[in-house]
This record gives sequence, structure tokens and C-alpha cells, in this order.
Amino acid sequence: MTDDTDPLAWTRDYTPILRSLAAEYGETQPLAGYSVALASHLEQKTGVLVETLRDAGATVLVTGSEPHSTKAAVVDALRDQDGIETFVEAGMSDEEWAAGQHELLEREPDFILDDGCELIVKVHADHPEIAETVLGGGEQTTAGITRLEAMEADDMLSFPVYGVNDTPMKHYFDNVHGTGESSLSNVMITTNTMLSGKTVVVAGYGYCGRGIARKARGMGAQTIVTEVDPRKALEAHMDGHRLAQMAEAAREADYVITSTGNRDVVRGDHLDALPDGVILANAGHFDVEIVVADIEAAADRVTEPRDGVTRYHLPDGRRINVLADGRLVNLTGPHSNGHPAEVMDTTFAMMFEAARDMLASEGKDLTPGLYAMPDRLDRAVANRKLETLDVEIDDLTEHQREYYEDWEHADSAF
Ligand code: NAI
Repeated sequence: MTDDTDPLAWTRDYTPILRSLAAEYGETQPLAGYSVALASHLEQKTGVLVETLRDAGATVLVTGSEPHSTKAAVVDALRDQDGIETFVEAGMSDEEWAAGQHELLEREPDFILDDGCELIVKVHADHPEIAETVLGGGEQTTAGITRLEAMEADDMLSFPVYGVNDTPMKHYFDNVHGTGESSLSNVMITTNTMLSGKTVVVAGYGYCGRGIARKARGMGAQTIVTEVDPRKALEAHMDGHRLAQMAEAAREADYVITSTGNRDVVRGDHLDALPDGVILANAGHFDVEIVVADIEAAADRVTEPRDGVTRYHLPDGRRINVLADGRLVNLTGPHSNGHPAEVMDTTFAMMFEAARDMLASEGKDLTPGLYAMPDRLDRAVANRKLETLDVEIDDLTEHQREYYEDWEHADSAF
């Protein structure tokens, strides 16, 4: 019988892949003797990943990947468990949160599972002697991969890192469906407004932006996409969205949602175009996509009409509403629950597999650098997910396999 007072109980029901990994590797203990540092938004799904790593034998050192997304009940649920140490509390200032991460790194983790490259950057920049002892890492976000690519270009990395974000099992589902659904649901809950019939401007048509735009349109909104990459722009066009530059799109916006992984996407230059009552939200990793300081500088009054909404009153009477202070709307607002559990089940299964696979050889198979995760791990997690859905798919027949391998197509009828 489940104990429904346990804050992780509900989430465990919706994370069957993690439960199946815990059951299998709880027996074989592949992570026994290793300490695994984990930086992630510390809410219920992360709590289940922490337990799964611990069940497979690891000592898990836990911190948040963002100071404002930590849930007190989850820290409380983890803190007293064997094999788990927490270095974060809800309500910490940015400075306290960073200090907790340094304290964690001083425990000399064997492996780092990261989000936004928080710990991997800090260990290299501030604890280089500890970085030398880390066996490997895994990174779950686009923003973190961008930082890792920059570190690799500067020849900075001292251990191998799997780019978990770039696996199909992560970004096809987490970025598109997880960010799409959770960002829109948070915008609607925070504002108590309806998307149907409104104009939603989505900045960035990568994996996240595509999910946000498609799902907004599915709910009856008109969508305008802004992009800087001509191919992504054309993809948005072919998917049926309108294209415009931000300076133009902003004029028609009821909502602007940014998801570019870039900075200054909505900035002072766009203020003149924004209509009265517009709602601005960010789904990108860092709070630099909407330049809130520019809006604040232009305002003569700031109010908080609802929890999670800051309203800037411009001298000409227009009101600009910014959600969650321009931080990740689906993770840091007052109503935020992050991604749906089912999608984090897939992402976190990939993170678990990154640690298990690389620690099996203690990272010795790989020289320092950023690596694609082996396809066999991606397929294995996909198959595990299908098993939890009780769905079977076809296998290639022998002839089909031969056909793929025969470049001459010698047996074909032509
Ligand atoms: P992506 O690289 O697939 O897409 C980003 C898109 O933004 C690209 O097509 C790029 O051309 C475009 N872009 C860049 N600068 C732009 C600008 N100034 N104006 C318009 N478009 C611009 O990245 P992905 O996976 O969609 O991630 C986007 C951001 O969302 C990252 O910061 C990532 O870390 C974050 N993220 C957030 C999640 C959440 O829970 N809110 C979950 C997953 C990722």
C-alpha cells in the first residue's frame, strides 16, 4: 500500500521507468562505492531520480540547478534517507545556493549529473584539483550543452561528459512535450487567462519553442514565431505558424514566450511595440531572455496584481506583465510543478543510464570531452518505456535487416 503522505508517492506512480531501473539495479548495485553529484530543479521527479541512484548503490549528493525551484517538502523527504546528502534548502538566496554547491563539490564526487552545467563549470573554475578526480558527467539541458561545447573548444574539460540532452529519448519528449505543456499550463494558471483566440508570440523554434507553439495553436491560439535561423524559421512556416521579427510580432502579442537559450530577446527596443496588458514569460534556461531591467527602467510604477505576476506601468498608461521575474516560467513560478512526471521519467532514465554506463568503465574508455550517448542506451530506455506501456512493436525480419545492409539491393525486383 502506498503512503500518500510521502511527498514523492504520487510521482513514483507516474515514473515507471525509474521504478523499473530501481528494481533491476537495486539487485545488482552497479553504483555501489561511487558518489554521484546531482544538480537539478529539486522537486518531486528529481527526488525519485535521487532515490533510484541511491537504490542502485550510489551515495547521492544533491543540489538545485536554480535557486528558486527547490521544494521544501522534497528536501525534507530526502534529507534523512541513507545514502543521500542534500546541499540546498528552499528559499535560499543566490549566494547561499552557490555556497551549497561549492560545499558539495568539496566532497569530491566521482560523477556529476548536471543541469545547465552548474556543477561542471564550478568544479573546473573553482576546484580544478577536484575536477581532476571526477570520473565523468552527464548534462541534461540545451543550455548546459552550449556551455560544454564552449569549454571543450577551450580545451577546458578534465573528464568525459555525456550530452544526455542531445539523445532522442530526452529532447524529442522533454523539450518538445514537457516544456510545451508545462510552460503553457503555468502561464494559464498564473494569469487565470485563456489562450484560445489570443495571439501567442513564441521566440525560438527549436525543440522547446516548437512544442510551445504547436500546443498553443492546438488550444486555439494564433501563433507568431520569431527566429534567427532561416531553416528553423522555414520549419515554423511550413508547420503553419506566422513568421515575423520581434519588433513586429510584439505589436500583436497577447503573450510572448521566449525559449531561445539566448539573451536580450525581448528588450528595451521592443517596448514601444508591446500592447497594454501583454503577458511576457520565459521558458529558456537562464533569466536573460526578457530584459526585465529595461522594462523596469521604463516604468514609473511596479505592482504585483497576482502571485507570480509583476506589472510594470509605463508613463503612457500601458501595463506590461512579466511572469516569474523572467525566470523559467514552468519551474520557478508560484504554481510551478516543472515538467509532467511521465516525461521526466524518460529524461531521468537517460541521466541514470549516463552514470551507470560511464561508471561501468570508470570513464576510462573515454578521454576528456563532450560525447554523444551511445544509441544502445537510448534504445534500451525507449524499450523500457514501451514495456511500461505494455505496448509491443514489430521487429525487423531477417530479410528487412539484410535489405538495409545490402547497398546494391541485389535481391530487389528491379
Ligand atoms: P534549441 O537550440 O533547439 O532552440 C533554440 C532556438 O532559438 C534555435 O532555433 C535558435 O535559432 C533560436 N534563437 C536563438 N536566438 C534567437 C533570437 N534572438 N530570437 C529568436 N530565436 C532565436 O534549444 P531548445 O532545446 O529549444 O532549448 C531552448 C532553451 O530552453 C534553452 O535555454 C534550454 O536550456 C531551455 N530548456 C528549458 C526547459 C524548461 O523546462 N523550461 C526544458 C528544456 C530546455
